[in-house]
Amino acid sequence: MSTTTRSHRTQVAIIGAGPAGLLLAWSLRAVGIESVVVENRSLDYVLGRIRAGILEQGSVETLTRLGLGDGIAEHGLTHNGIYLQFDGQRHKVDFNALIGRTVTVYGQQEVVKDLVAAHRAAGSEIVFEASRVSLHEVAGDAPRVRYVSGGVETELVADFVVGADGFHGVSRTVIPDLTSYERDYPYAWLGILADVAPSTDELIYALHERGFAMHSMRSPSVSRLYLQVPHDERIEDWPDARIWGELHTRLGVPGWELVEGPVTDKSITPMRSFVASRLRHGRLFLVGDAGHIVPPTGAKGLNAAIADVTMLARGLADHYLGDDRRLDGYEATALARQWKLQQFSQWMTELLHRAPAGDPAAEFQYRSQLGRLAYVTGSTHAMESLAEQYSGLPL
Ligand code: FAD
Ligand code: DHB
Repeated sequence: MSTTTRSHRTQVAIIGAGPAGLLLAWSLRAVGIESVVVENRSLDYVLGRIRAGILEQGSVETLTRLGLGDGIAEHGLTHNGIYLQFDGQRHKVDFNALIGRTVTVYGQQEVVKDLVAAHRAAGSEIVFEASRVSLHEVAGDAPRVRYVSGGVETELVADFVVGADGFHGVSRTVIPDLTSYERDYPYAWLGILADVAPSTDELIYALHERGFAMHSMRSPSVSRLYLQVPHDERIEDWPDARIWGELHTRLGVPGWELVEGPVTDKSITPMRSFVASRLRHGRLFLVGDAGHIVPPTGAKGLNAAIADVTMLARGLADHYLGDDRRLDGYEATALARQWKLQQFSQWMTELLHRAPAGDPAAEFQYRSQLGRLAYVTGSTHAMESLAEQYSGLPL
């Protein structure tokens, strides 16, 4: 139980120390705006979460502009394109040759680690392991966030509250008349990290009769691989040998070998598309997964969070200079951009995943997907469109 209550003031109260919350705090600090980040998990938990791996060119530019580019410059792996694989054949989609753009492999975990290090060095206020986080009077002029930390209840009074607390956070729940547009998929991704050099130069996205598989990476000595599995699959049913067996089958092409290595992490991620109809209520704004989720195919989740934060930070900076136009435009601009990412992520997902065997249209769909893949890999226009969206739409 809390024993004391203290009141504390800041300009922007940020809920959630994921990439969105930490980057927003850092972006605001760069323009002299104070913030406090309130996170309900521990620092170790936040640093240990393994998630996305691809940064769009624009995300790299944003992080670099904010002085967060050293780790990316040293350890990021620049990629010129991807392979699309189907019908036992691998086709390169060369973004750099098509449109002069690239993407960078750099784990979300590393982005978070860099942000935490930067905040620590700068002395930012980030409260980890906060419990009973709640929002109050966000529609008024003095919104407040309450939380308990170390037995002390704090009331944080702010000019603005930003919900960067992910899909399961509390911020979205206080917005009235919010409609959730969403759909689930009948499959999930089983992901592994393995201590082995990647067996490929570019990421491989493969559609196989047995389902989707992907070969990604984290470094010259660490591979990241994914398999489509049924949405209710249990990780216990996937010993390492079964995972590798399935990866060999789905990713295999003549003359190429997938090299196995010790599995250091293994998890199953459900797939969902979700957009909240509102990203603002009074002085509360939502950024990142708090406001929208994409299925991971196409690697848009983290990049969308970085884009939201960039737009909101500009709006807040202008606000303190007396101009509210960008802040007032945030919701509409972010949603319009988000729906473009939604359709791309949905398109990539439906292009590459096998409908469950019980679906009466599964065989038709599979053959139609092969036709679509043949069209995409045979058309410069279609490949340019894929390259443009994968490498990142402008803000
Ligand atoms: P989050 O990273 O979810 O951060 C939200 C933070 O808020 C968390 O630290 C959370 O602990 C905290 N929080 C939650 N509730 C509260 C509360 N009540 N009070 C205080 N703090 C709270 N994207 C890809 O592009 N590729 C991938 O391979 C990929 N894999 C993923 C795997 C998983 C398991 C998940 C969940 C997501 C994955 N994503 C992937 C999506 C990508 O990781 C997210 O889009 C990205 O993390 C969004 O960042 P965020 O800061 O908005 O949200
Ligand atoms: C990774 C994740 C993705 O969702 C994707 O499309 C590409 C790569 C990754 O984790 O490396």
